[in-house]
Amino acid sequence: MRILVTGGAGFIGSHTVVELRNAGYEPVIIDNFSNSNRSVLDGLKQILGEEVPFYEADCNDAGSLNAIFEKEKFDGVIHFAAYKAVGESVEKPLNYYDNNLGSTVLLLQTMIKYGVPHLVFSSSCTVYGQPEQLPVTEQTPRLPAESPYGNTKSICEDIIRDTVRSKAPVKGISLRYFNPVGAHPSALIGELPSGVPGNLVPYITQTAAGIREKLTVFGSDYNTPDGTCMRDFIHVVDLAKAHVQALKLLDGRQETSYYDVFNVGTGDGHTVLELIKTFEEVNHLKLNYSIGPRRPGDVEKIYAQVDKVNQVMGWRAEKSLADSLRDAWRWQQKLEEKSKKESGTSVA
Ligand code: UD1
Repeated sequence: MRILVTGGAGFIGSHTVVELRNAGYEPVIIDNFSNSNRSVLDGLKQILGEEVPFYEADCNDAGSLNAIFEKEKFDGVIHFAAYKAVGESVEKPLNYYDNNLGSTVLLLQTMIKYGVPHLVFSSSCTVYGQPEQLPVTEQTPRLPAESPYGNTKSICEDIIRDTVRSKAPVKGISLRYFNPVGAHPSALIGELPSGVPGNLVPYITQTAAGIREKLTVFGSDYNTPDGTCMRDFIHVVDLAKAHVQALKLLDGRQETSYYDVFNVGTGDGHTVLELIKTFEEVNHLKLNYSIGPRRPGDVEKIYAQVDKVNQVMGWRAEKSLADSLRDAWRWQQKLEEKSKKESGTSVA
């Protein structure tokens, strides 16, 4: 089965391409490299032993999408391509609404036009805000979003749900990711943040590599065991595998109007300090960090209840936080080696 992966050169997208291939699917990538790097395609080729079909295109460009759908005859779509920086979304809300909502609407229209029946959407636990009860289940009410980015995830879920309900010939699943971390164990693909990382783990690995001087832990006066925020950190390879299971589920559903949402996390919460400690232990190093003020907009604690995804999709996270942090560090070291080699070559 041929699956379009929008944003397939990105962090979660690229790992999903690998798992799709491993499961016998034929992924085809669309990416415009607005927040990803072409070198990911080389990493994918090395892991898979073959090129992954790829189009450089923008998911908001109807002409390109039509041409690609016309040519490829897809059986399904996994839609990752989106802007995802919370802070930037507050500064440039229209860019976020335009890009994230526009691409989802256009994709659905194009899927209907070309008879592509299955959509898996990349959503986020951010739709829950700070929930009153933990762990969060899929029944936990969504709260008004803290940022335009979060709002685009919530609205896109609604766009897909309403389209399915309208008896359009599409079925859909939204996967609400918790905090994806780690890298492929081969260290051939991983997270490639552009500029200063906003997320915790890339900031940690860059600090350990000497690219950043020091990590600031944002707040230590939260109502958690050690005062730092708590998250459900999930290995990106586990998360990638959930997409394969989602496609299988869509393929097996007989009803015409199927739409559902699933939490994808480990079910365990870890604090920021616990994560730092684990990083230091598994990688045998000391991290330069200090406690700073809270970051505006951060939720105190959130972790998933994963019974639904376990039972309905037969999926559960297999890798530990230690696995994630070992793989993330191995990937960072590989990047360092590569950049040293490249600067060595250019000097010579
Ligand atoms: C949030 C969203 C997530 C979204 C992501 C996009 C929630 C619960 N999660 O992730 O859905 O996909 O943004 O970027 O809304 N931290 C530090 N120092 C740093 C960086 C982070 O202490 O330099 C702390 C943060 O305060 C937070 C934790 O690490 O407590 C995780 O932060 P981050 O990796 O940015 O992810 P979230 O904000 O949880």
